[in-house]
Amino acid sequence: MADLLLRGRTLSFRRWPETVDDSGAYDYEEDGGILVRNGLIVAAGGFNDVAKGAAEGVVIVDHRPNLILPGFIDCHAHYPQMQVIASYGAELLEWLNKYTFPAESRFADEQHARRIARLFLDELIRHGTTSVVAYCSVHRQSAEVLFGEAYSRNMLTVAGKVMMDRNAPDAVCDTPETAYDDTKALIAEWHGNGRQHYAITPRFAITSSPAQMEVAGTLCREHPDLHMQTHLSENHAEIAFTQELYPWSRDYTDVYEHYGLLGQKSLFGHCIHLSEREADALSASGSVAVFCPTSNLFLGSGLFDYQRYRRRENPVRIASATDVGGGTNYSMLRTMDEGYKVIALNGTKLNPFQSFWQITRGNAEAISLVHRIGTLEPGTDADITVLSARATPVMRIRAEVVETLAEELFLLQTMGDDRSVAEVYIAGRPAKSDLAI
Ligand code: GUN
Ligand code: ZN
Repeated sequence: MADLLLRGRTLSFRRWPETVDDSGAYDYEEDGGILVRNGLIVAAGGFNDVAKGAAEGVVIVDHRPNLILPGFIDCHAHYPQMQVIASYGAELLEWLNKYTFPAESRFADEQHARRIARLFLDELIRHGTTSVVAYCSVHRQSAEVLFGEAYSRNMLTVAGKVMMDRNAPDAVCDTPETAYDDTKALIAEWHGNGRQHYAITPRFAITSSPAQMEVAGTLCREHPDLHMQTHLSENHAEIAFTQELYPWSRDYTDVYEHYGLLGQKSLFGHCIHLSEREADALSASGSVAVFCPTSNLFLGSGLFDYQRYRRRENPVRIASATDVGGGTNYSMLRTMDEGYKVIALNGTKLNPFQSFWQITRGNAEAISLVHRIGTLEPGTDADITVLSARATPVMRIRAEVVETLAEELFLLQTMGDDRSVAEVYIAGRPAKSDLAI
């Protein structure tokens, strides 16, 4: 394959930007170049310098004046919920029973699952997301087809079949034994196959019996390198029901702690109503709280206190995510726009560099994959998103008076969506323009 050389305004983060003036937190090149060979970034920097390293026959794509960033990472989404988005009028538990479980029951049908898996991954790409941490349905085939489709697109994906054996219709329940066997088979087939990663996925404490929670703990012990994902402290009725089901527990987090589910690779969706003890437990174990603002607003779940977790003496690691279909948009730009408002309601502001750090490097760090994705550093995978801050008439009129990179990023976050995504590269292959053809 010929070398690929991208030209444009490149931006990649080195670390968390403390303030809007913290230019040491990122690398920005006004006339930047990214050299891609065999799916990897081999050089990044000023265009003229980078161009010197290109092999003969290099293909040059000039994206000026657009911004070239690492591809976005969505750390929590439910692919079987594409047809659940925009379901009216319910809070979490009713929403699950009324809309979500019936929709997920259709994923017993492999053809349906394959169709939705394709559409889901294509939609992520169109929105500039190059990696996702996904929940499948309870059905083993639902994970098979998602991994198969991600594999054929060469997308780095973390995903797992949901484990759930109670408090849901039979059509979306497994058993402790089948959950174990199916998870083991999926790990053997998919974990480490191409760019696929398996996540052990007990849905949440309400839909897993104690016996199944034990199984989840056993799987984590048998595969300490794997991710584990579940939901935690999203909604008051959910917390109260969990307390009834596990009366011995000190709090909701204690349930997961008891079964050995906390750790560096553990991702807990929502974490809205945690006590200090629970935040301490997440922090001490290196577990990650996943912020899903569009979902939290849509379901009326509450306001995730991002700065409380970041600024406490023992910070909690944070990721951000769409939580489609509780979440209402596939775009990480839309997600951080709503995230900014949630954080503002808690009394502080996230600056635009911090938001873009979060959806690129920050999320890669949160899922322990920053050595592969989330930056434009040489040696990492060439997952790249190209953004235009002039994608729509209203963005263009606003962009006329933008003077700084921070203002441009904030405009993209506040007004941008899939229309702002000019191109996406997955392991060096143009992927968005492919879809348009
Ligand atoms: N808690 C358990 N399952 C789900 C789900 O599918 N979506 C959300 N938002 N919360 C959950
Ligand atoms: Zn979720």
